[in-house]
Amino acid sequence: MKRIDFYQLADDAADARANAYAPYSGFTVGAALMTADEKVYTGCNIENGAYGPSVCAERVAFFKAVSDGYKTPADFKAIAIVGGKAGEDPKSQCPPCGVCRQVMNEFTDPETFLVIIPDEHGELDVHTLSELLPLGFKLK
Ligand code: THU
Repeated sequence: MKRIDFYQLADDAADARANAYAPYSGFTVGAALMTADEKVYTGCNIENGAYGPSVCAERVAFFKAVSDGYKTPADFKAIAIVGGKAGEDPKSQCPPCGVCRQVMNEFTDPETFLVIIPDEHGELDVHTLSELLPLGFKLK
């Protein structure tokens, strides 16, 4: 199996961003989620005219993976996220929203799961989920 590094994961997120459906905000986001067996699930934000049903790129990526059977903390390694105003640099910096941090907290080990936030210069900002969501809630 081809091993995927985090730069490749950032590229996958940027590719996924191209599929975003964001006619209302004009803000496009892409995410690429790496499983422990190094499969990549991508997602983009998908908006809706009623606003409420809109979903973030990160949740699309997670829900695709969960619906394929990946749902324990041991299943997930890292997610890369890029986003910004449509037409800007494909790798603009886009830290995940609070709701998506909570969804990540449901399915991962926040002490080891990595959130990769590339910047405009191609550098990767890497955090554990627990750094981005300290004292996160888990109903367990
Ligand atoms: N968005 C994401 O896809 N992920 C985030 O973490 C932040 C926001 C989307 C939601 C909406 O379609 C657009 O960006 C503007 O908020």
